[in-house]
Amino acid sequence: MGHAAAAMMHAYAPYSRFRVGAAILGDGGAIHVGANVENAAYPQSQCAEACAIGAMVAAGETRIAAVAVVADRVEHCPPCGGCRQRLAEFAGPDTPVYLGRPGSEPRVLTLGELLPLAFGSEALGQ
Ligand code: THU
Repeated sequence: MGHAAAAMMHAYAPYSRFRVGAAILGDGGAIHVGANVENAAYPQSQCAEACAIGAMVAAGETRIAAVAVVADRVEHCPPCGGCRQRLAEFAGPDTPVYLGRPGSEPRVLTLGELLPLAFGSEALGQ
């Protein structure tokens, strides 16, 4: 949670003032972080989880062992629907997702609990 909280401090969220940080533990043991990055053209904003996935892929890793997401305005920041799908591309249904707020006890769910009946590459025959 500490890595996610540190990334959250760098969030660029002047429009929503809702800062989010994400940390991904890759299968190889490295930690990849992201923060939300908003834009004056609102739809161009990017979620913290999407940024962390980008950092992970750029570092050469494509399997997720665990995820942490923190925000300072809510007790547990649930990943948005799009980010659940993004995470499912690189993680399995049993992958733990820690949801928290800096300084409080995280809640842990699996990605399968957050995104049941996920659409995946197997549906495409791959
Ligand atoms: N946000 C994230 O970064 N991750 C989520 O899963 C939920 C929402 C960001 C997007 C936007 O910058 C702000 O939180 C308010 O929606």
